[in-house]
Parts: sequence; C-alpha cells; structure tokens
Amino acid sequence: MNKYLNEQQYHPETLSVRAGAEMTEFGENSEALFLNSSFRFKNAAQAAARFGGTEPGNIYSRFTNPTVTMFQNKLAALEGAEQCVATSSGMSAILACVMGLCSAGDHVVASRSIFGTSVQLFSNILARWGLQVTFVSLTNLDEWQAAVTPKTKLFFVETPSNPLTEVCDIRALADIAHQTGAHLVVDNCFCTPAIQRPLELGADIIIHSATKYIDGQGRCLGGAVLGSKLLMEPVYGFLRTAGVTMSAFNAWVFLKGLETLFIRMEAHAKNALALAAWLEEQPQVARVHYPGLKSHPQHALAMQQQSSGGGIVSFEVKPKAGQSLQEAAWALIDATKLISITANLGDAKSTITHPATTTHSRVTAEARAAAGITDGLVRIAVGLEHVDDLKADLISLAL
Ligand SMILES: Cc1ncc(COP(=O)(O)O)c(C=O)c1O
Repeated sequence: MNKYLNEQQYHPETLSVRAGAEMTEFGENSEALFLNSSFRFKNAAQAAARFGGTEPGNIYSRFTNPTVTMFQNKLAALEGAEQCVATSSGMSAILACVMGLCSAGDHVVASRSIFGTSVQLFSNILARWGLQVTFVSLTNLDEWQAAVTPKTKLFFVETPSNPLTEVCDIRALADIAHQTGAHLVVDNCFCTPAIQRPLELGADIIIHSATKYIDGQGRCLGGAVLGSKLLMEPVYGFLRTAGVTMSAFNAWVFLKGLETLFIRMEAHAKNALALAAWLEEQPQVARVHYPGLKSHPQHALAMQQQSSGGGIVSFEVKPKAGQSLQEAAWALIDATKLISITANLGDAKSTITHPATTTHSRVTAEARAAAGITDGLVRIAVGLEHVDDLKADLISLAL
C-alpha cells in the first residue's frame, strides 16, 4: 500500500499524516500534484504492457493518477480497507458503487433516512434502469429482514443519518445482509474514520463525500468507495469506463485535509456537544438530535460505534404564536449573522440549513414525514469557531 510505511505499526493519527505519501526523485516533503492527463511510455511495448495490465504504472488520469492514488491509499489506510476508488463527488461514489455491483433486476434495501439526493438517485434514476429499491426504517431491524428478497445485493445506510443523526447497529445490520449474501454499504460521511470505522464493525463497503470533513474547509468536491479488492474491482471498472473520476487537484487538497482530520473532528465534536447541550435548555427548542447527548435514543449504541457524537446537530424549533413551523425555522436562520446559511457541512465555518426546503426538498412530503423531517427542523454543521459565539448567534432561541 505504501512503499515507505508499515501501516500496522502506527496509530491512525500518524497514518492520517503519513500514509499513502510517495516521493518523486525531487524528494518533496509534501505530496506532489500531478496535474497532467496522460503519461508517456518508454516504447510501444511498454504501452502495450501497461494497457494489458502486465506492467503496473500510470496510463491516463481518468483512471490512474499518482496524486489520486496517494489520496486513495491514505484513505484506505485510515478506514482499514484493502482498496479505495476515488470519485468526482460523493454522489458519483454511490453511483459507481451501485453500477459496479448491481445489474437490472437486482434489489437494494436502503434506509429512509439518507441524504435527499441519494433518495433521488435510487428512486428516480437507478429505478429507471431496472434497480428495485425498498426504503425502510434505519433503526428497525425487522423491517430490513422483511425487505430482503433473493435479488437483494446491497443494504445502504448513513449512520448517523442526515439530518436527524439516527444511529443504526452496523454489526446487526451486516449480519442480516450477510445471511442472504448481500453487502452492507455505510455512508461514513458524518463520522469519517477519525470517529467510526464501519469495516471493523462488519460493513463491507464505505462511501465518502470527501467534499465534507475530508476536505474540511469547503473547497473541493470529491468522493470515495472503499472495500475489499474483490468488491472494488467492478467499481473501479465502472469508474475507468464512465469517467466519474476525482481530479488530481482535488485529491491534492484532500490529502492536505486528511492530515488534520483527527484534530479537526475532535474540535468539531467538542463544539457540537457543547452547542447541543445548550440548545436543549433553550425555551424555543422543542427537541435536539445529537448522538452525544444522553437524550438521544441510540446514545449508548452511538458511543459504542463512534469515538464521539460528531459535528452535526439538528433541532426542532417551537413556533411562536401565529407562526408555522417553517416560519419559525426560517426566522431563526435569517436572524443569524455569523453562521453561514448554506447546505454544505464539514466546513471549519459553521453552517445552518432548513432540510425540508433544501437538502430534502426534492423528497416527497410523505417521504419526509416518514423519515421524521419536520418543517421545524434546523440542521447545524458545527464548525471550529468559539462555541460561545455560535450560541450568541442563535440567541433568538433564548427569547
Ligand atoms: C451523507 C451524504 N452523503 C453523500 C453526499 C453527496 O456528496 P457530494 O455532494 O460530494 O456529491 C452528501 C452531500 O451533502 C451527504 O451529506
């Protein structure tokens, strides 16, 4: 995996700084950016050997680029995966995973509590190509068991989920999936390997939106699929042909982001816990969703699977007299001066969004209600500012 490092020997924090790095003849200490589309061969025979797969080496940046390879190897070391396939975005990671591992007529069981665009991908796009999808409750294992058919190839979850931070038992879900030969896919975007390592808990495949905490500063789009060599082979085959490729520049930014992942995630989680505890005490807040709080329904499970509650806090506002739930949520969002009104998450800058009218607006009202996303729900991706400044920015909740 890495020429210079025996990965078994080092702690994850060290791997986040050191794993995957390959030096060129110039001896650079920071990973080089290979911003070129193709690679030269010494002669025609070498070109044939590279294309034929009998000689390893780079060919063309749609499917082999040294900067992207360094990113893949670093993330694979952090997740404990045999192989990582980097993609152009988190959505194309999900697409590559399904296109690589499923065919028309196959069946996927997915949690109802997933990112709105992931719901769209499964139910509006992949369904048109003959993929059968059943949506079930993230936390009700009986529903997963009952949804399985002989054609089920994948279980798909986010844990904690977006935006309600529901947590599922990864080991128990993997056992159900494996009974029928299906694979459990975990979108680990909210936690990152700094907080949760799903493969160690029995999952088969990990999805990342690198756009979020892996970047950590809101600059680039990217994604990744991780798992065994056997499972990643068809995923890589899809990427090589369809070209849902991560750009070398973005991989270079993500390499830098990963170096600070552990300290950033610790700081995000510390701030999020303090803010969530404060929100619970505010008169205008009906309910707070944060896995690190004792009041969270799966708090004990979350603390077994995760090293912290992570950086995302959702809460339901109480409407004032004459206000609808949406008006109350929008009024709070509009009263903020510091927190950015944007749907992205995982940035050093705290962000605030109204899921029902943004990230989940293309999901039907019935599906939103079934997933528990009310019009009064607000999501904050807690950043790295001082938590007292964040509380001050949400002061309208205390009035
Ligand atoms: C949990 C989760 N998965 C996947 C995605 C999609 O990632 P991207 O925007 O990089 O395509 C997002 C984006 O917000 C997300 O929140």
